[in-house]
Amino acid sequence: MPGLGAVSTTFIAGTVAIRNGISSPIGSITQMGSLRLGKRTEKREVGIKDFVPLANLNDLVFGGWDIFEDNCYEAAVKAGVIDTELLDQIKTELSSIKPMKAVFDKHFVKKLNGTYVKSVKGHRSRIEALRQDIRDFKKNNGLNRVVMIWCGSTEVYQDPKGSVYDSLDSLEKALDDDEPSIAPSILYAYAAIKEGLPYANGAPNLSVDFPAMYSLASQEGVPIAGKDFKTGQTLMKTILAPGFKARRLGIDGWFSTNILGNRDGEVLDDPESFKTKEVSKLGVLEQILEPEKYPELYGDLYHKVRINYYPPRGDNKEGWDNIDIKGWLGYPMQIKVDFLCRDSILAAPLVLDLALFLDLANRSGMHGIQEWLSFYFKSPMCKPDLYPIHDLFSQKVKLENTLRYLMGETLITHLGLDYYHNED
Ligand SMILES: NC(=O)c1ccc[n+]([C@@H]2O[C@H](COP(=O)([O-])OP(=O)(O)OC[C@H]3O[C@@H](n4cnc5c(N)ncnc54)[C@H](O)[C@@H]3O)[C@@H](O)[C@H]2O)c1
Repeated sequence: MPGLGAVSTTFIAGTVAIRNGISSPIGSITQMGSLRLGKRTEKREVGIKDFVPLANLNDLVFGGWDIFEDNCYEAAVKAGVIDTELLDQIKTELSSIKPMKAVFDKHFVKKLNGTYVKSVKGHRSRIEALRQDIRDFKKNNGLNRVVMIWCGSTEVYQDPKGSVYDSLDSLEKALDDDEPSIAPSILYAYAAIKEGLPYANGAPNLSVDFPAMYSLASQEGVPIAGKDFKTGQTLMKTILAPGFKARRLGIDGWFSTNILGNRDGEVLDDPESFKTKEVSKLGVLEQILEPEKYPELYGDLYHKVRINYYPPRGDNKEGWDNIDIKGWLGYPMQIKVDFLCRDSILAAPLVLDLALFLDLANRSGMHGIQEWLSFYFKSPMCKPDLYPIHDLFSQKVKLENTLRYLMGETLITHLGLDYYHNED
């Protein structure tokens, strides 16, 4: 993982605690999910990890890069997500996970001053240094397979429409020319894909979400996924909005504000990094509600998202939503949601699931964008001529049917008419 911060240390410490039998993988679909197979009358319900061949938690080895030298134990204590009482029980294992020096460029994360950074200059040399890190990590730990998940800070906003991103040829040339608009997350992703590693982007910055990277992933036969872990407020939005839409309740306004005090909050206090996050958070309602198809219900929707850095809260974010809805005859109503959440506690199981599912996808010969993993992302990546699916429940059906498909089981359409009409 590029980034050994709150999310990644919560994921690592949690997984170590779980495999030591001192905690439970709540929130992880790979560990706690189950799936129906066949018809309802067959009563075949299987645990996902018993159904598809996923890597076992005991076989996982963790590694990462960061711009700070803290080991995983120290970084987890600083992040302040998991109690030190729990961290101390697994201190030896966590302390042995030390970050590798990062590829960093302050232009893309203005609020941080990295000290633990590779000295090599130039895009090509930095990519080569990252590739060497991957090879060393694999060799030193005796690994067969590796997955990379970006858990680094949100980089400043970049418009993917620039010509550098259009084709693999133009990207290769931009790398040769040390084009300044190429962000570190792109270099990590490029290194991963070239080493044959599946790659997921947990942040909203571009990283792999542009045509040149789609081509590279297909060419190298590697699965990619992104972007921006779906936790907290956006998770709530993609649970609630499909419900309102299904019942054709109108929405005039959805005002979302957040206070958080972790390092992520500090980075997002910079307007350019916030812009990246804002674009990621705003797209969700547009797609779910389709105002162009339902102008009377959603045509006037005013959607606003604010994030405020407020240090006293640490990782314990408060996401507050005011939703102005309207019903029969246009009568207005209001809904207030106040989610006192723990950001990294919600994100950690997503890192685990993505690592295991991307590894499965890779072994199954799936490459390029893995749309079936949209379930985990705020801004799901999809083919440029498609539109993304944001509705959590549609995403869940897609994920489950993909697993059935991979295992040669009948897909479930939820039609169910045959239960009533084929009685012979
Ligand atoms: N629930 C969540 O917490 C959540 C949800 C969605 C997305 N995200 C995204 O996930 C990412 C991680 O979140 P976090 O809360 O762990 O943040 P964090 O600030 O605690 O951790 C990010 C780490 O990345 C490091 N970093 C920055 N640039 C780097 C680089 N070029 N190479 C290596 N390391 C680098 C930072 O030093 C930091 O330690 C952020 O981009 C955040 O927006 C988090």
